[in-house]
Amino acid sequence: MTDKNRSQWDFNRFIKTLSYFDKIPLLSSLQKLFSGSRNQNQNQNISQVGKMGVILVAGATGGVGKRVVKRLTKRGYKIRCLVRDIDKARSILGDNIDLVVADITQPETLNSLVMSNIEAIICCTAVRVQPVEGDTKDRGKYYQGVKFYQPEIVGDTPENVEYRGVKNLVEAAAKYLPKSNDKLIFDFTNPSAEIQNIWGALDDVVMGGVSESNIRLVEGTALFAGNVSTANSGGFASVRTKDFSPPFNLSAYEGIDLRVKGDGKRYKFFIRSESKWDGIGYSYSFDTVPNIWITVRIPFADLVPVFRAKTVKDCPPINTSNICSFQLMLSKFEYDGELNPKFSPGSFSLQIESIKAYGGFLPQFVLVSSAGVTRPGRPGINLDEEPPAVRLNDQLGGILTWKLKGEDSLRQSEIPYTIIRPCALTESPGGKDFIFEQGDNIRGRISREDVAELCVQALEEPKACNVTFEVKEGEKTVTNSNWNELFSQLQSD
Ligand SMILES: NC(=O)c1ccc[n+]([C@@H]2O[C@H](COP(=O)([O-])OP(=O)(O)OC[C@H]3O[C@@H](n4cnc5c(N)ncnc54)[C@H](OP(=O)(O)O)[C@@H]3O)[C@@H](O)[C@H]2O)c1
Repeated sequence: MTDKNRSQWDFNRFIKTLSYFDKIPLLSSLQKLFSGSRNQNQNQNISQVGKMGVILVAGATGGVGKRVVKRLTKRGYKIRCLVRDIDKARSILGDNIDLVVADITQPETLNSLVMSNIEAIICCTAVRVQPVEGDTKDRGKYYQGVKFYQPEIVGDTPENVEYRGVKNLVEAAAKYLPKSNDKLIFDFTNPSAEIQNIWGALDDVVMGGVSESNIRLVEGTALFAGNVSTANSGGFASVRTKDFSPPFNLSAYEGIDLRVKGDGKRYKFFIRSESKWDGIGYSYSFDTVPNIWITVRIPFADLVPVFRAKTVKDCPPINTSNICSFQLMLSKFEYDGELNPKFSPGSFSLQIESIKAYGGFLPQFVLVSSAGVTRPGRPGINLDEEPPAVRLNDQLGGILTWKLKGEDSLRQSEIPYTIIRPCALTESPGGKDFIFEQGDNIRGRISREDVAELCVQALEEPKACNVTFEVKEGEKTVTNSNWNELFSQLQSD
């Protein structure tokens, strides 16, 4: 910047901007080294963006349930576990999990303490079945589905747990689950420390300009404000999030709703589906009304792919399953050199109340049931070939019959659901391919690990909505399943 007529460019702010977004590798690793665990926390916080609601896990102390909890935790979900015995739950799940004491057979315990703020439920409860001679210490062969001993029900009846209990939980869920399936991604009315860490200013200082902006939490809103200047060939101010880690999946939604109050200027909202610093952004321009709250609806289909304010021809549509960052911008330019008709240099201000994904349809209640539930009493069934639970249904208090009634209570509710009917459960490490079926005819086995993975995947898969299906493992070992393809095979009920 040798030209005396030029405004003073701020090199320090340039460095600060890039290092905030981790874009100067050496500098940001040095910062990490010196700030130690603080940075780790920041990453953890970013992983929680878009996961505002709570996932309630019932049966969290069970074989499938505890694995569901582990996976949800890893994926950054907020979890609450419905348990009957808090000490037992602590010993299985550790000290850092939100536990609530309740019993699904006692509807009065399914109160607001248990159900408030829930976004979805995964139910893995079951009556206790064990060999007549008593369970082995390590819940050995019987539990692993290797050999079925003479079994008996211990404790409460299948009618109470598998039917009445599940029905109670469905009824409570219908009362507390949000009616709209919108996904709140940023709720500035209820700000958390994480929000402040995620958004940072990204002004034309990166191109030599002198505009200056920031984002602050003010009175239950985020205030994007500053001064935009066209000096030094600049002319934009913006705030951008750090990359979400992991990126989140909005493929079940139609677009984004922004709740904003502006100053009459035209702003842009960018979404990126790659973590490249200077890659393609998918942009949407919107006008604000001075001092009036408005909802700006941004359909994904209307986003314009741009690279540095130039539209990109033949660009694929945004990959909504891999949303990496958001950006809000006030720019002198529209696209391809056109000017923003509502632009004037100087101070500006845009308040944001929330950013949410709209138009989604995802399962809100995942129920682990069992293969075989429709087989007791079905004409043409050869009991000798059937798994013990089908053969011994009557001796086991009608376990499968009551499980089917429990399923029915969910199917009859208004709640979007997924009903998973696994074959015999094992304690093997899993990682096998999944074989899905409908019609309740398959036999086989499947690891509890894989069933738990399926429960968690169903929560993010629109094609898993309102389906009932059986599942067993195949022969092949797989590292990554194509969930969309798997669920796409299924017919909805
Ligand atoms: N075993 C198989 O081969 C097989 C085959 C197909 C399907 N399934 C089904 O797969 C699902 C998961 O099986 P799993 O082996 O993970 O079960 P599990 O280990 O026996 O766990 C059952 C869970 O349900 C909880 N529970 C029982 N009654 C409850 C009540 N009234 N209120 C609240 N919680 C209650 C238990 O809590 P506590 O710790 O307090 O007892 C436990 O956490 C079950 O639905 C099961 O029927 C099993």
